[in-house]
Amino acid sequence: MTDPVYSASENRYGQMPYRRCGRSGVLLPALSLGLWHNFGSRKPFADAKAMAHFAFDHGICHFDLANNYGPEYGTAEENFGKLMAASLRPYRDELFISSKAGWDMWPGPYGNWGSRKYLMSSLDQSLRRMNIDYVDIFYSHRWDPETPLEETMQALVDIVRQGKALYVGLSRYPVEEAAKAYRYLAERDVPCLLYQDRFNIIDRNPDKTGLIDLSKENGTGFISFSPLQQGLLTNRYLQGVPADSRMAAGTSLNPSVLTKELLQSLRRLDGIARRRGQSLAAMALSWLLRDERVTSVIIGASSVSQLQDNLKAVENLDFTEEELLEIDRLF
Ligand SMILES: NC(=O)c1ccc[n+]([C@@H]2O[C@H](COP(=O)([O-])OP(=O)(O)OC[C@H]3O[C@@H](n4cnc5c(N)ncnc54)[C@H](OP(=O)(O)O)[C@@H]3O)[C@@H](O)[C@H]2O)c1
Repeated sequence: MTDPVYSASENRYGQMPYRRCGRSGVLLPALSLGLWHNFGSRKPFADAKAMAHFAFDHGICHFDLANNYGPEYGTAEENFGKLMAASLRPYRDELFISSKAGWDMWPGPYGNWGSRKYLMSSLDQSLRRMNIDYVDIFYSHRWDPETPLEETMQALVDIVRQGKALYVGLSRYPVEEAAKAYRYLAERDVPCLLYQDRFNIIDRNPDKTGLIDLSKENGTGFISFSPLQQGLLTNRYLQGVPADSRMAAGTSLNPSVLTKELLQSLRRLDGIARRRGQSLAAMALSWLLRDERVTSVIIGASSVSQLQDNLKAVENLDFTEEELLEIDRLF
């Protein structure tokens, strides 16, 4: 028997708050969905499909991809392309889809870093894989110290001029280079829409370096990736390492990070979340979203029930001074 045709929930915009992205016309959902893990060829397509549909049915209309998401590289975009063909195409104008290039993708000198050669050909490949004519935002995925910044930025400008992306963004740039890049892009009337970096209760680096404030001053939105520190800021590891977890897979989350001290702090954090009537994951997302400088958080998930839990984050964004101090004392 074939699956019934997908029809999105009529109430999909009922619960999700949308936030203005910097000084732009774009609103983004408070929660966005990232396809770095769990959407590639090593996972059942049916699970990826169920999560994507559930997300969209609940107002998550921003899907964050990159050329090398999978694993295997490219297969998250391929699966997203399958979804476009099978169910999401009628909703294309309701979706905000990103891709990126900057990390290793294919062998040889042109499949990595920040050259015009790499960015241009990588985006062409991403569009083919995803079965779409343009992305809503294309990112330089990381700063390349060897390529002149002007070359990378001009490639982004030209990608917009070619109609292959509506907006551009940066990810993982040092603050000084981000400031230069923002200037270069603004002078060419292609302002940087979004800056993407890891920001969560455990890792506050972009706040410490001033990147979040710089982005705000520039009119660039800020979107946080790994808001749950890849699952550490959830109940996943409070009682050991589950066999089906990202840490057990040993790809991007090394078990050595889970020290006794960290586990103790996570358990205390879980206590604060319980007092607030939230799961640890939901509270970790609420903590980020209480900060008005944060446009959206890009969550990852391995099941629909995790998404369900995370959606509750938007229901309680108020923290008492005491709660914030308690969290700050732990991390
Ligand atoms: N620009 C960049 O360089 C960059 C880098 C990294 C990520 N990103 C983007 O950010 C996205 C999110 O990153 P991430 O996957 O690391 O995000 P994350 O939200 O910090 O971690 C997601 C993982 O946390 C666990 N989880 C999520 N919700 C849960 C819940 N309610 N209860 C228990 N466990 C829960 C799941 O782990 P299990 O799989 O173990 O169940 C899930 O796979 C990526 O997909 C990508 O789009 C960008």
